[in-house]
Amino acid sequence: MSEKNNTFYITTPIYYPSDKLHIGHTYSTVAADTMARYKRLKGFDVFFLTGTDEHGQKIEDKAAEAGVTPKEYVDNIVAGIQDLWKLMNISNDKFIRTTDEYHEKAVQKIFQKMYDKGDIYMGKYEGLYCKPCESFWTETQAADGKCPDCGRPVYKAEEEAYFFKLSNYTDKLVEYYESHPGFIEPVSRQNEMINNFIKPGLQDLCISRSTFKWGIPVPVNPDHVIYVWLDALTNYITALGYAGDDDSLYQKFWPADVHFIGKDIVRFHTIYWPAFLMSLDIPCPDKVYAHGWVLLEGGKMSKSKGNVVDPVILAERYGVDALRYYLLREIAFGSDGVFSNENLINRINSDLANDLGNLLSRTVSMVQKYFDGTVPESRESGEFDAKLIETAKTAAEKAEQDLDSINFSVALTDIWKLISATNKYIDETTPWILAKDESNKAKLANVMYNLCECLRITSVLIAPFMPDTSAEIRNQLGIGDKFTWSEAYEYGKEKTYSVVKGKIIFPRLDMEKEIEELSSVSAAPVNPLKAEIEGVAKISIDEFAKTDLRAAKIVDCFPVKKAKKLLQLTLDVGTGESRTVASGIAKWYKPEELIGKTVVLVSNLNPAVLCGVESCGMILAADVGEDDVKVIFLDDSVPAGSKIR
Ligand code: ME8
Ligand code: MG
Repeated sequence: MSEKNNTFYITTPIYYPSDKLHIGHTYSTVAADTMARYKRLKGFDVFFLTGTDEHGQKIEDKAAEAGVTPKEYVDNIVAGIQDLWKLMNISNDKFIRTTDEYHEKAVQKIFQKMYDKGDIYMGKYEGLYCKPCESFWTETQAADGKCPDCGRPVYKAEEEAYFFKLSNYTDKLVEYYESHPGFIEPVSRQNEMINNFIKPGLQDLCISRSTFKWGIPVPVNPDHVIYVWLDALTNYITALGYAGDDDSLYQKFWPADVHFIGKDIVRFHTIYWPAFLMSLDIPCPDKVYAHGWVLLEGGKMSKSKGNVVDPVILAERYGVDALRYYLLREIAFGSDGVFSNENLINRINSDLANDLGNLLSRTVSMVQKYFDGTVPESRESGEFDAKLIETAKTAAEKAEQDLDSINFSVALTDIWKLISATNKYIDETTPWILAKDESNKAKLANVMYNLCECLRITSVLIAPFMPDTSAEIRNQLGIGDKFTWSEAYEYGKEKTYSVVKGKIIFPRLDMEKEIEELSSVSAAPVNPLKAEIEGVAKISIDEFAKTDLRAAKIVDCFPVKKAKKLLQLTLDVGTGESRTVASGIAKWYKPEELIGKTVVLVSNLNPAVLCGVESCGMILAADVGEDDVKVIFLDDSVPAGSKIR
């Protein structure tokens, strides 16, 4: 990453507030947060952005399902996302919502600018559309009828739409890639983009929709809304005030040093986004880094598959830092990795409780026991010191290189080499034996001092990953909470340690007990009604409209002789003619309870002969409990024949 003027601008994707966020999203955000914290410790002026991507048909549909407005729908979920980032200790400088007014206005200006330049024209779109991903595909891309990104079915869609002349930018994109090695990382992703999208020829991109309303209106034609990806991608500049009232942040921080994204949205960030920016005559970001997937045993985690691991449950149970550590340690950034509760608990027990937690508590206890809590300044060098000090220096250098090359898991591995070496140093120097002989007091002090120094250095190195744990270590070492990254290199910086006994930073967990309890908390209680309702196939409004529902007055009613279950009803349907319907409700209603009542009739059912009665339609009733039925009665004021919809 080539940082300019000591500023550093880093972003996460802006998330769809269509459901609860899972640990895959948490992963993306924790990684970006770690990088932001690292750069701040190194003295950069950092701007760290995250937010939510709130427009589009998917949100409009979900809101309709929930019976609320799209804005009400997203407000509720966005509040939960903001709480999650607070819980996870995310240090973002700004949270952008694409429904923020300044963003909407700026996106319209951006559209207008591209339009005025001649990069946007009106055309007709025919293609295959994946609703959950909000993306159009060509026949070749979705050859099997499935979305290449998510594997769900695509359907044919056609509409008049505005197009962006993406095809004009093919050469410029290739040029940009060539002159900016490291723009797309890992580099395999760049090859994918070139081979799968650029070489076959870029087609112009449809950037408006007219089949739904929930979006930013196209300034030159408000019947259309702006394609959600144009709306979403531009958040990275509108958040800084581009095309707004005050663009000083934009002047200061753009171009972005790095966009962190998941590997599913590389195409949007490395083809569309730079092309949009070129059209606007704006510099492109320095880097787009695509990390891999957090998988569950058995496949990709996904909101729509219902296969979700709740970060709130895990963070509340094991601590935010344990979860942050686990995610960045277990999965090599850029590759996929499998999440499992068992791995998480193993990591907590071995790396956090055993290695780091023990080191801190042993050190603090020994300093208290042997020196009343204060390590004397006097030092006497011992035979194992040089190696330990060298290890500390190497850990700092390596961790820095690893973080500069965005290798979180390797950085943690390198930091843990110092922690292990420090634990080993205790075994080598055997302080409990030194303590038996008063003449070894200076040697013992030296050992204690080195332990404290290594813990201090550790507190600096882990700070980007585990800010609270870093603070707690420093608290127990009795040193201040203000420090910089370079202090990790300054062996001997602190002269005296006055330790304070504190809490056990990572209590050991009982694997069996945890696995059992986790399976009961994370398995959502089965709600059969919910499952039943969700299991019903969806229909379109047009399909529903085929059902003709009418208010009907029961003018007569009597049992059907041959069938114990049936009542024969004579209905006034407002046309002057009466209608006969047989209904299987004899068990629950006597004829006299029904006569005179207004009910709901499905009037266009095909006639059927039931036990000799020709039934022309059906009246609606609710199944109540195991074996009870209640007819739906309408208010008497509803005239027979009224249409119900
Ligand atoms: O794509 N493992 O939003 P989104 C790792 N709104 N990362 C994962 C993951 C997993 N299992 N699941 C999700 C969108 N992510 C758009 C972005 S940006 C201008 C617009 C991460 O909520 C991953 O980074 O569907 C993915 O790209 C991101 O969540 C956004 O997911
Ligand atoms: Mg996605």
